[in-house]
Amino acid sequence: MDWQHASFLAAPLWKTIYAKDMSDLIVDTLERCGERAGDISAAVYRSFFAENPEALELMAHSDEGMKGRMLAQTIELLMDEDAGSTNDYLRWEVNNHVNAYAVHLEMYPSFLAALRNTVADVLGDEWGEAEALAWDTRITNLLDEIKAV
Ligand code: HEM
Repeated sequence: MDWQHASFLAAPLWKTIYAKDMSDLIVDTLERCGERAGDISAAVYRSFFAENPEALELMAHSDEGMKGRMLAQTIELLMDEDAGSTNDYLRWEVNNHVNAYAVHLEMYPSFLAALRNTVADVLGDEWGEAEALAWDTRITNLLDEIKAV
């Protein structure tokens, strides 16, 4: 039985189920990453700043607590598939970053990639195609939402 193409499954229903599996996978990988590595904040920012020295300049004086809160909010957004450009928090946060912190929109892809790659590194052999697809899809959608703010 080819479930993916089963005619009685209306496309929107299938998409909802599929999106649910992907967001479950993001939560699941983050949980496993937390069990294995604990706080990944230092590793994420190390990777982010290595790719993006301009971001390091902007955050050179930010303390660990601040960076931890920023990472926690980012994880919340990734887990919330309803977070979109219509989401008040996302709109406020992006505008605030651009206007008050002089953040460029081009810095978001490398920050999200640093988080994704850190989780992938921690999971090692357990990071496969399904995990990569779930993360890459959600990151692409979130970046579209950020650009649309
Ligand atoms: C979806 C992505 C992001 C989210 C949700 C987010 C969230 C946050 C939050 C919640 C804070 C305030 C933390 C606090 O004081 O409690 C913050 C501060 C800040 N963020 Fe982000 N951020 C994101 C991406 C970025 C990126 C890509 C940059 C680029 C460098 C950046 C630069 C900064 C700076 C410069 C501050 C202020 C630091 C300070 O006052 O010490 N953020 N961010």
